[in-house]
Amino acid sequence: MTRPLSRLLVTGGCGFIGSAFIRRLFGREDFTGSVVNLDLLTYAGNPANLDGAVDPERYTFVHGDIADAACVSDVMTSHNIDTVVNFAAETHVDRSIHGPGAFLRSNYEGTFVLLQACRESGAHFHQISTDEVFGSLGDDGAFAEGDPFAPNSPYAATKAGADHLVRAWHHTYGVSVTVSHCSNNYGPCQFPEKLIPLMLLNALGGKPLPVYGDGGNVRDWLHVDDHGDAVLAILRGADAGTSWNIGGRCERTNLQVLGALLDAVAEQAPRDRDALESLITFVADRPGHDWRYAVDCSRIEAELGWAPQVEFSEGLKSTVRWYLEHPEWVEGVRSGVYRQWLERNYTQRSE
Ligand code: NAD
Ligand code: TYD
Repeated sequence: MTRPLSRLLVTGGCGFIGSAFIRRLFGREDFTGSVVNLDLLTYAGNPANLDGAVDPERYTFVHGDIADAACVSDVMTSHNIDTVVNFAAETHVDRSIHGPGAFLRSNYEGTFVLLQACRESGAHFHQISTDEVFGSLGDDGAFAEGDPFAPNSPYAATKAGADHLVRAWHHTYGVSVTVSHCSNNYGPCQFPEKLIPLMLLNALGGKPLPVYGDGGNVRDWLHVDDHGDAVLAILRGADAGTSWNIGGRCERTNLQVLGALLDAVAEQAPRDRDALESLITFVADRPGHDWRYAVDCSRIEAELGWAPQVEFSEGLKSTVRWYLEHPEWVEGVRSGVYRQWLERNYTQRSE
């Protein structure tokens, strides 16, 4: 199986992982296709993530909502899209606890709209999902593809619901689909609400580092560039109707992640390591906080020849370096200047 990937619709391409995927695509000589990036530019979407990284001849930005059927249909038809990669989503568990409605619209209804459009046009659909759909593990074991879903947060429930739609649209309507379930990502351009960039920027600013519970919760960490390469391998080589786990083989407690991050900050910023340590503050736990996630990613390694390439401490160092070297990005995120940028540059759906 080799898909042509000629005319891609990438949704959520101004977010953390979608933008890394687009940068990765345009960085490859063997990618000769075009990309349409459909993004609503929520608080998490940042067009600057793609500055200088795309070939303008082969790239189009469309400001719009994946849950808007007319907008999606227009994009699919006018660009003759052959492949949809759906990164667009509301993604932060804490936000989903306080305001789940937006998660239902973007994550569930949005996926429905995209699937209907693929059903209509015959395009292939790839769903970017998460390991969180499988629920929480105890101290042992790892989730395999095909394990039952047991989502615990509103975020995970909307992602699991969307995955069910994807499966049903393949089974019932014959839509060509693939799905990937990835573990926690880290790297450049991640919005500072997630663990690593939040701790990193607080550490640089001398602010408290809020650890939920006792900091013993375990996540598996993967560099965002490795995620992008895994998605590309699936798009190119996976049969329709298959789902794939993507993981970093890098399980760490939150306190271990924080310790490694503070080491990197102390070395590169530089800062006094003990002073950084003193910022750690244990706070009330997240409601329903999943204890541990881990995925068994041996299938993608064996069948598609993908494996994580970025070693965690090296990836953390390069991530810290990126944030230190891009103070304007951090300032932009803080002050919301990207929304003003949007009003200046993309006052209408562009072509
Ligand atoms: P992000 O929050 O950084 O970016 C999400 C992007 O989607 C933003 O650009 C936002 O503007 C856009 N968006 C949101 N709702 C939209 C809508 N209705 N229509 C169009 N665009 C919309 O998210 P991320 O961390 O880059 O995550 C991308 C995908 O990867 C998500 O589907 C998420 O569930 C999945 N995922 C993330 C992680 C992780 O560690 N961050 C791990 C596994 C899977
Ligand atoms: P997060 O980055 O929100 O990703 P997810 O909840 O999708 O895994 O959180 C990663 C882990 O870090 C999770 O166990 C919650 C914890 N955490 C904190 O301890 N403090 C924080 O301020 C944040 C944002 C997360």
